[in-house]
Amino acid sequence: MKEIIHALEQKREAARAGGGRRRMEAQHAKGKLMARERIELLLDEGSFEEFDMFVEHRAHEFGMAENKVPGDGVVTGWGTVNGRLVYVFSKDFTVFGGSLSGAHAQKICKVQEMAMRSGAPIVGIFDAGGARIQEGVESLAGYADIFLKNILSSGVIPQISVIMGPCAGGDVYSPAMTDFIFMVKDTSYMYVTGPDVVKTVTNETVTHDELGGWRVHAAKSGVADGAFDNDFEALGQMRRLIDFLPGSNREKPPMRPSFDDPKREEPSLDRLIPDNPNKPYDMKELIEKVADEGDFFEISPDFGKNIVTGFGRMDGAPVGFVANQPMSLAGVLDIDASRKAARFVRFCDAFNIPIITFVDVPGFLPGTKQEQGGLIKHGAKLLFAYGEATVPKITVVTRKAYGGAYDVMSSKHLRGDFNYAWPSAEIAVMGAKGAVEIIFRADIGDPDKIAQRTKEYQDRFANPFVAASLGYLDDVIMPRETRRRICRALKALEKKKVENPWKKHDNIPL
Ligand code: HXC
Repeated sequence: MKEIIHALEQKREAARAGGGRRRMEAQHAKGKLMARERIELLLDEGSFEEFDMFVEHRAHEFGMAENKVPGDGVVTGWGTVNGRLVYVFSKDFTVFGGSLSGAHAQKICKVQEMAMRSGAPIVGIFDAGGARIQEGVESLAGYADIFLKNILSSGVIPQISVIMGPCAGGDVYSPAMTDFIFMVKDTSYMYVTGPDVVKTVTNETVTHDELGGWRVHAAKSGVADGAFDNDFEALGQMRRLIDFLPGSNREKPPMRPSFDDPKREEPSLDRLIPDNPNKPYDMKELIEKVADEGDFFEISPDFGKNIVTGFGRMDGAPVGFVANQPMSLAGVLDIDASRKAARFVRFCDAFNIPIITFVDVPGFLPGTKQEQGGLIKHGAKLLFAYGEATVPKITVVTRKAYGGAYDVMSSKHLRGDFNYAWPSAEIAVMGAKGAVEIIFRADIGDPDKIAQRTKEYQDRFANPFVAASLGYLDDVIMPRETRRRICRALKALEKKKVENPWKKHDNIPL
């Protein structure tokens, strides 16, 4: 018995040593933590239970028969985050560059399966060079097995990917099908094909960073939902994010006792909207003044900045905020903003998270770049996402709600449950100046006439009362009472039940 225990300890030691001291030191020298160190930071202290520590690859060629490391380059298992069950896998770059073998894939599939069975979120930590080159098709098959589990888990359990080193080749598509991707600044990069292949195929010379660094994905491509300064910060923020999410689509998101009075008034909000309707203000100020304790977890802060998305709580219950941001492109809806918000709205709807929408939108962004880029289809994604969502939907128009964008932004017509406006709201087909230049084109040469017509149009439409008189708004509320009204509305909607017609699935304009 003593010998068996000794052998077990030895095997565990070998697994914990990963790719050995030299590679471990190289990992730390790059500012990256080891796979198990990362898991320890993500999960509650002492809660991690590892699976499959003794699994080894089955390859023989290229000297692989003699080259085995227990665990085979990925650490998998489960534990808790603030007491709630979470499954996890974390790739170990020091073992064959974290590359994926058939055995490595089976380990990941096992925790994916367990997370689905138990209705718990799964977090994947990536630091890997793609398919195990020595292994061939078994590795490709392994990727496909993981992808299929990602697809079947989508909308059932929250799936989160954290990119903490290279994420190349086959490794990118699993994160791409998860709900959120986060990166670590300067140590992580993601691409389908690396700089060498790019050089061969297109003759472009690019660095890893230019091709797939955090600036590319968190600000330009929108592939990543955020980037953090280092491993510690990233994993701490993942714990914060998980706190907002339910374990699965069968549950409501977790309540937390709130010390913030749901009736709290915020008099400073009465002064948030500038007198000049063309002057911007920061919509995040409104979110932070309304949410419990000002706590807001923003999703994609650097991409499509003209719309703000993220999680907060109202009277202890998690909610998703979606808000046009007048500080960026006047809060207009363009391709990036529509894609970003549509995906966020669908996530909230899939996981029973009520959606609070703050509207100040001058319309869709005009221009050839937008039209040629498919603004029609991308804008329709957001329209579709709001329309199909059956979670509680509360909308507050703070200022402009012009044109088609008025319809899109969780209007009454898309089954908004509670639609409020501040007295500063302007709901119209377009801004007064643009409207007058079209309907009084003949007067364009006469500035006095145009000024008078503009004033008439403004007096008639630059207010919330026309929409309120038609019942498209439920009430006009004082800005200071926004938090109280939203908290009340959420309580009233706790048992909301709306069902969409039966279908196999919809055909959202992808
Ligand atoms: C086996 C690999 C590996 C791989 C890296 N290693 N990638 N082993 N298969 N895919 C090993 C290296 O041999 C090395 O071993 C160790 O990991 C560290 O790699 P380095 O190259 O020294 O590290 P670094 O300089 O940081 O570069 C990281 C990297 C590079 C950019 C990721 O390793 C790289 O380009 N790897 C190959 C990427 C790739 O083409 N993958 C296949 C994609 S095709 P030693 O023993 O020296 O420590 C693919 C298809 C799947 O994935 C499609 C499914 C849909």
